[in-house]
Amino acid sequence: MKILLIHGPNLNLLGKREPEIYGTLTLDDINKRVLGLAVELGVDVTFFQSNHEGELVQKIQDAMGVYQAIVINPGAYTHTSVALRDAVSSTGIPVIETHLSNIYKREEFRHHSYISGVAVGQISGFGPDSYLLAVRAAVNLIKNADARK
Ligand code: DQA
Repeated sequence: MKILLIHGPNLNLLGKREPEIYGTLTLDDINKRVLGLAVELGVDVTFFQSNHEGELVQKIQDAMGVYQAIVINPGAYTHTSVALRDAVSSTGIPVIETHLSNIYKREEFRHHSYISGVAVGQISGFGPDSYLLAVRAAVNLIKNADARK
């Protein structure tokens, strides 16, 4: 079972970036927690971070036939990127959208997500636990899809 976890722009700054909103864990700390869960669940999780929209689009395209699910925190591209949305809908890989903060509690411009309409679902507001919940959801999705085969 292979899951791709994508972190979008500015998430490389976690730990230093607005800790009152995003917490004090670094991206590496979060990835380590996810890795711990992946070992527990017996799944393979690959991590990717980029600040560049085109690289994120490419990574989603390249995931076809390799990964059974994608967990993505698209960062600010959540609210701006038709290209990322199209990448998700074009590949057909099940995607779980994830946010550290509850985007609906924040500024109005963060309330709209271009990704949520093509994602299986969204997990938002649980801090680093959002990723752990998303990986659990991805594993269940893959298992349920396999059971239907
Ligand atoms: C974020 C929320 C976005 O609005 C913001 O642009 C981010 C992080 C989150 O994880 O809470 O970069 O995706």
